[in-house]
Amino acid sequence: MNHKEAAARRALEFVKSGMTLGLGSGSTTAYFVDMLGVKVSSGELTDIRAVPTSEATAERALEWGIPLTNLGEYPNLDLAVDGADEVDPNLNLIKGLGRAALREKIVESHAEQFVVIVDESKLVPKLGRGPLPVEIVRFEHETHIHWLNTLGLGCTAKLWLEEDGSPAITDNGNYLALCWFEEGIADAYELAVTLSTHPGVIGHGLFLDIADTIIIAGNEGIRIMERK
Ligand code: A5P
Repeated sequence: MNHKEAAARRALEFVKSGMTLGLGSGSTTAYFVDMLGVKVSSGELTDIRAVPTSEATAERALEWGIPLTNLGEYPNLDLAVDGADEVDPNLNLIKGLGRAALREKIVESHAEQFVVIVDESKLVPKLGRGPLPVEIVRFEHETHIHWLNTLGLGCTAKLWLEEDGSPAITDNGNYLALCWFEEGIADAYELAVTLSTHPGVIGHGLFLDIADTIIIAGNEGIRIMERK
């Protein structure tokens, strides 16, 4: 079993019959959805429903017969489970390299408990080791990228392109920018507020004070970090 799979397996222990779940996106969560699917289809877990954070996750869950719902029907989720791209010592995250950060944040902020599943390579002393995804509207997208580059917070931004050179498009129909920080993100809270208040930016991958539990799988086994 690889580390991503091991983290997903541990997260399954948090799921009880009768729960309404938020299902994240990405390769680690895909293991979780498959494991959940086995338990739901065998009848070991009953009365489960889930709100997916991407079309891909919805499709995967439906293949297993996991009933899907939405936040309109069930605004209070018992548990959400998702991966992350970076996890800092304060349980703050960068997410969205699976292009689903906006839906993930909407769904996961409605969860009583948000459990993050990662392999140990995702642990960082400071956020910003890799790129931060920022979801932007298509209208005048060049100007949003230009604004990110002139922010003065050390960000070098580029439009996220597919291999064929066309812009990557989210499930919401928007474009994405990738922001690189040469020395990491100095103040993630300041950056989150700045991004959130700019017209044209509709989401970003900074998940601050949202995660409750981090399950980290590594060579030494499983380690759990809890919000205090
Ligand atoms: C999806 O948009 C992301 O937030 C993923 O949760 C994140 O990119 C981690 O993905 P992996 O589990 O594939 O590493």
